[in-house]
Amino acid sequence: MTEWMLYGATGYTGRLVAEAAVKRGHRPLLAGRSADKLRPLAERLGLEWVAVSLDDADGLRRAVAQVGLVYHAAGPFLHTAQPMVHACLAEGAHYLDITGEIPVYQMVFGLDSAARERGVALLSGVGFDVVPSDGLIRYVADRLPGADRLEVVVDALGTGDGAARVSAGTTKSMLELIAAQGNVVRRDGRLVRIPFGAAPRRFRFPHGERLAMPAPWGDVEMAYHSTGIPNITAYLAFPPTLVGLFALTGPVVGLMLKPAGVRRLLGQAVDRLVAGPSEAVRDRGRSWICARASRADGRRAEAWLETIEAYQFTAAIGVRAVERVLDSSLRGALTPSQAFGADFALEVEGTRRYDALPG
Ligand SMILES: NC(=O)c1ccc[n+]([C@@H]2O[C@H](COP(=O)([O-])OP(=O)(O)OC[C@H]3O[C@@H](n4cnc5c(N)ncnc54)[C@H](OP(=O)(O)O)[C@@H]3O)[C@@H](O)[C@H]2O)c1
Repeated sequence: MTEWMLYGATGYTGRLVAEAAVKRGHRPLLAGRSADKLRPLAERLGLEWVAVSLDDADGLRRAVAQVGLVYHAAGPFLHTAQPMVHACLAEGAHYLDITGEIPVYQMVFGLDSAARERGVALLSGVGFDVVPSDGLIRYVADRLPGADRLEVVVDALGTGDGAARVSAGTTKSMLELIAAQGNVVRRDGRLVRIPFGAAPRRFRFPHGERLAMPAPWGDVEMAYHSTGIPNITAYLAFPPTLVGLFALTGPVVGLMLKPAGVRRLLGQAVDRLVAGPSEAVRDRGRSWICARASRADGRRAEAWLETIEAYQFTAAIGVRAVERVLDSSLRGALTPSQAFGADFALEVEGTRRYDALPG
């Protein structure tokens, strides 16, 4: 029996995961909704495949029944996660996904008891968003007991050199998320909306200073489950011109994206125009994260993480997450650091943690 299924295998990220899996000796069952796209990929990699729509509940259950674990890579997950999680619970298969979408995390954590009863693990966010940041957050939180504030800053998506850093799927997922939820931070345990472009700040990294603005990165939800810290702001670093543009359009951007027709049209344009990072960009790209925990008495703990390009990282860590889950007795809905510890990201070659800034 094939041990695990990769659904969404023909997407930009799904292909990278499939290739990384084969390199590590796995033979996942490739799955997705399009036989025409799956067949050539499966033939090239010498793997079995199954085409099934997420709308076909019986067909999906039959497909999931063939495996012990599903790695879900088809997004936007706001539209795709629910049927797959339920098929996994029904068939007793572990569920892993690579979403960074906060409402999906909330849905998955809401199924914690059901997963424990069924004896399966539900693990959202086993990609770049949020394995490395969740681990780094766990690391700084452990060094400062009683911390009540957390800031995490991600510098991976845009350096302003014009090279694509995100895929079409990520762009469309961001559009859906902005329309559904807007920009959020966590205050006193609750999600609070703020406009995009509000409160940008400069942060120091080992590779220099970066301007970053609050964004609905998955840690706003995930770190709350990992650490219980009630005040969390996640920042994304962008070139200053883009931060300025967000500051101008931020208050209305969510409203502009509300009509589904607008998102559909934008999505079609994204599919035509956004190819995702090229192989050269993936090979040379670096990603940086800074996490800072603070306490009311003014003390703080800070650390940084440097790793490989975000999509390469996602493929590399995802396959390791599959191996860990299949080799464990993990049960229930868990954050990556609850499941694998603070140091999991360091297993990916080219990843390094810093306790202080050089010099
Ligand atoms: N956590 C992370 O760090 C991380 C990293 C990478 C990607 N992601 C997320 O992963 C998702 C995929 O990204 P990508 O770069 O692979 O995008 P992509 O190239 O657009 O691929 C999307 C995949 O999802 C499938 N899909 C979309 N809607 C579907 C539906 N309703 N039913 C069945 N299949 C559906 C597509 O199938 P078709 O080809 O048939 O349309 C395609 O295989 C995005 O949500 C992205 O944000 C997260």
